[in-house]
Amino acid sequence: MGRLSRPTLVTERLRLEPLTTDHTELLVELDSDPAVQRFLRGRALAREEVLAQVPRRLRPEADAHRLGYWAGWADGAFLGWWCLIPDGPGDAPDDGRPVSAELGYRLRRDAWGHGYATEGARALLDHAFRTVGLDRVWAETMAVNTGSRGVMTKAGLRHVLTEVRQWDDPLPGWEEGEVRYEVDRASYLGG
Ligand SMILES: CC(C)(COP(=O)(O)OP(=O)(O)OC[C@H]1O[C@@H](n2cnc3c(N)ncnc32)[C@H](O)[C@@H]1OP(=O)(O)O)[C@@H](O)C(=O)NCCC(=O)NCCS
Repeated sequence: MGRLSRPTLVTERLRLEPLTTDHTELLVELDSDPAVQRFLRGRALAREEVLAQVPRRLRPEADAHRLGYWAGWADGAFLGWWCLIPDGPGDAPDDGRPVSAELGYRLRRDAWGHGYATEGARALLDHAFRTVGLDRVWAETMAVNTGSRGVMTKAGLRHVLTEVRQWDDPLPGWEEGEVRYEVDRASYLGG
């Protein structure tokens, strides 16, 4: 893989460093908690399932645009990850530069309830709009995932859509649908 071009982001309490294969064991432990997976897969993930996801979390294409995944730390303790996943070529101008990205985050249960998720999300939005120059950032979750919706709202995203989808293996609460939140650069920087 080429040189990492995602910068380390530092906030009052957090150090967000580019996710690498060095963090693999931490990801295995994170996803082995069924509470962390409640609105994602609905059960703990096996080690092999987590390992299978690692390559797509380290895609060099995202890194080339200073986007991708960050591992978050506070006082030397691993908290979880945050990400900005660039949208595909269909959404990109001719030079291949992405104009929008999806925001995501997943924290260890013992890191919930401290405002870390929101603090990290704000750091990624600052990076997305001020440094990368994206036009729009969006995020999605299950409507019943109130914790995640709270993070989106506190970080400055606004609810734009609720959509009920059909799933092969639906999770409890699926009938409330998925929610999409968005923020664009002008309103983020202006607000
Ligand atoms: C979704 C998730 C990131 C939310 O984490 P969280 O810790 O609840 O989120 P926040 O960072 O907003 O912190 C929430 C609480 O910390 C508390 N808090 C404590 N100290 C704080 C501080 N210094 N600053 C701010 N908030 C603080 C607040 O009470 C706040 O809750 P409130 O705003 O409702 O009052 C977490 O539940 C998670 O990782 N879940 C598993 C993965 C997942 O579902 N991801 C999203 C899928 S799309």
